[in-house]
Amino acid sequence: MALFRKKRGTNETMKKGAQLITVADPKSPVSEQIRIVRTNINFMAVDHDIKTMAFTSANISEGKSTVTVNVAVTYAQAGRKTLLIDGDLRRPTLHSTFNMSNQRGLTSVLTSDAKEIDLDDVIQDSGVDNLSILTSGPIPPNPAELIGSKRMQTFIELVRDHYDVVIIDLAPVLAVSDTQELASHLDGVVLVVRQGVTKKAAIKRSVEMLKFAKVRILGYVMNDISSSNAGYGYGYGYGYGYGYGYGEEKKKSFWDRFRS
Ligand SMILES: Nc1ncnc2c1ncn2[C@@H]1O[C@H](COP(=O)(O)OP(=O)(O)OP(=O)(O)O)[C@@H](O)[C@H]1O
Ligand SMILES: [Mg+2]
Repeated sequence: MALFRKKRGTNETMKKGAQLITVADPKSPVSEQIRIVRTNINFMAVDHDIKTMAFTSANISEGKSTVTVNVAVTYAQAGRKTLLIDGDLRRPTLHSTFNMSNQRGLTSVLTSDAKEIDLDDVIQDSGVDNLSILTSGPIPPNPAELIGSKRMQTFIELVRDHYDVVIIDLAPVLAVSDTQELASHLDGVVLVVRQGVTKKAAIKRSVEMLKFAKVRILGYVMNDISSSNAGYGYGYGYGYGYGYGYGEEKKKSFWDRFRS
């Protein structure tokens, strides 16, 4: 019997990057589902402006980076000037996804002593119209502390004024406490749930922790690899549900179980 159980998860996206379905095949059903996610987030913006948002999950490898990057692409494709930030300093992927340098990035901003930040020094062009990228930057020994820092909040306030939408890929709630800290300073957070993998107790705990930190939860994305329609050898499926009075009643039931 093994003394230590191997940590569930895969490093595939860290090495090869996430699948950019919305770029490769914008007309596919998967891309359409991603656009529905974006539309539903926009519904939440009726009463409150949502300019800064993050995607997180309960645990690692639940599909956060894949969902986040594709949602960001659909915002850009809709003509919104979008900044996508790799805020998962433990398992960064954005530089691999866009095949770009990670010598400078978010950590360069957060560890710099400079009073003023020149955004052009750190933000890169993704190659997708309207989509700019801030990679993680070199990973320091104390990655979590940086994400929860005051400097990070100040930086988000700065980029907020330069972009229509700022989207952050954040480390899992149950793994990194600073996720809550930063999330509470954003306009909202979307929880990515992996169908058949994420345990109900983990979702409930994540929601409790986010609510405790006064994070505005915008909804969840159900990442369902069993409903095959991607045409890439594996399937994606996204369900989106809200507990704020939007959408059909039956769509709310899953979400409401965890919100109450
Ligand atoms: N719907 C899906 N169908 C099949 N595979 C998927 C799906 N979503 C994600 N994956 C795969 O699952 C793995 C983890 O996905 P991803 O890296 O997006 O998750 P993550 O939550 O960001 O993980 P991490 O904790 O490493 O940040 C990757 O190999 C990715 O290609
Ligand atoms: Mg990730």
